[in-house]
Amino acid sequence: MQTSQPQNPSLLYDIIILGASGFTGKYVVKEALKFLNTPASPLKNLAIAGRSHEKLVKTLQWAAHPSPLPPSVSIITADTTDPPSLLSLCTQTKVLLNCVGPFRIHGEPVVAACASSGCDYLDISGEPEFMERMEAKYHEEAVETGSLVVSACGFDSIPAEMGFMFNSRQWVAPAVPNHVDAYVSLESDKRIVGNFATYESAVLGVANMDKLREFRRSRPKRPRPVIPGPPPSRGPMIEHQEKIGLRAVKLPSADAVVVQRTLVTLIENPHGLPGVNESVEHTEKREAFWSSVKPAHFGVKIGSKSLLGIYRIIGVGMFIGLLGRISFGRWLLLKFPSFFSLGWFRKRGPSEDEVRSASFKMWFVGYGFSDSSLASQANSKPDMQIITRVMGPEIGYVTTPIVLLQCALILLSQRESLPKGGAFTPGVVFGPHLQERLQENGISFDLISKCALPA
Ligand SMILES: NC(=O)c1ccc[n+]([C@@H]2O[C@H](COP(=O)([O-])OP(=O)(O)OC[C@H]3O[C@@H](n4cnc5c(N)ncnc54)[C@H](OP(=O)(O)O)[C@@H]3O)[C@@H](O)[C@H]2O)c1
Repeated sequence: MQTSQPQNPSLLYDIIILGASGFTGKYVVKEALKFLNTPASPLKNLAIAGRSHEKLVKTLQWAAHPSPLPPSVSIITADTTDPPSLLSLCTQTKVLLNCVGPFRIHGEPVVAACASSGCDYLDISGEPEFMERMEAKYHEEAVETGSLVVSACGFDSIPAEMGFMFNSRQWVAPAVPNHVDAYVSLESDKRIVGNFATYESAVLGVANMDKLREFRRSRPKRPRPVIPGPPPSRGPMIEHQEKIGLRAVKLPSADAVVVQRTLVTLIENPHGLPGVNESVEHTEKREAFWSSVKPAHFGVKIGSKSLLGIYRIIGVGMFIGLLGRISFGRWLLLKFPSFFSLGWFRKRGPSEDEVRSASFKMWFVGYGFSDSSLASQANSKPDMQIITRVMGPEIGYVTTPIVLLQCALILLSQRESLPKGGAFTPGVVFGPHLQERLQENGISFDLISKCALPA
């Protein structure tokens, strides 16, 4: 094991994981080790980085267990408050995976360092304000330097993005989708628990909602996708989706916003983003993929099999939504996370058993028209429904590391097929490449049903 700053400044890692000692970071390291120096894997050199050398050694021991410490993984100290340490990381790696959150507090210096140095950047942020600000501020520079800056490469928002695309691709002409509603259902024999930083990110998101609105107002208006048929009606606050056996309420996650940003990018680039040096074969694959993705309205709800489960979700939403707006309320929320989240978030995170026993299902219920010509008729109503499902292991510390690593491996193995640089959503960068890889790594995509709707 090499320790501290590598002496050779020209040493190039394939991946550096920043924030590796964090709750999510350590699971990301564990996932990365599965691909390190295995046959056919492009991951040959790995380093982990963070503030504390001692914590990073412990992380590596935990992640490698029961194997001994991998000799080929380097440990580098870096701090997001120390820009030169970040620039040094960027000059040593092809891809930087950022697991230091909340991103609104810690993320910008890392994006700035990657965008200026040209190394590729992926993170697991689920914070729309951070993502949109970074895109606005660093996109041009990243295009120039050839740095791909892609946020939301975790459970937020890859299952939603890939699941939306999977559903939209089931609509074969002349059929067209109108809206797709996603329903997330978390399952476990044990308690479902998340780590404090995710809860903190959500609380800070509520506190800064006005800033996000103001920021969006200050940005130039971008065209919206043209979607066949009228927009869907709002529906009841608590919806009962009998076909999938869930009651559900709106989930104010980043997912819908990220999908929307992907659809907006596709208006300007209907065949996706050309690779920096892509082969003819890849151009054909990319164009075929994107011509099968159709725009639709998209929303996400969180579901529960029981009404009591829904009341708990509403209760936590009200605590965070109301108390998160005032500073004393935020102090209370952050001081007593377990109490105000009714046990869903803990300062010390879930146990390994709790992580192992959890899983998710994300249902995509798509509504549309069996013939696109029906969409433009007066009082048109969708006459067709397609249900698809994405399913996988625990969301925060198993699915998130899987999807983050797969995105990184695509960067390492197919960089020429991807855009030169710029800040984009994960769907638009990784869309044509990702589903198959996720399926090979425990995340399934299934078509559940296609049927006509009663008039
Ligand atoms: N997209 C998703 O679905 C998803 C899933 C899971 C997590 N997340 C997000 O990921 C983020 C991290 O969550 P977590 O639970 O892993 O948090 P955590 O356990 O608190 O870990 C935070 C990490 O950041 C490091 N760090 C903090 N300040 C730093 C600084 N100034 N310089 C360098 N490193 C610094 C910490 O280092 P020390 O060890 O030295 O304190 C630690 O390694 C959160 O924003 C969370 O919302 C997203």
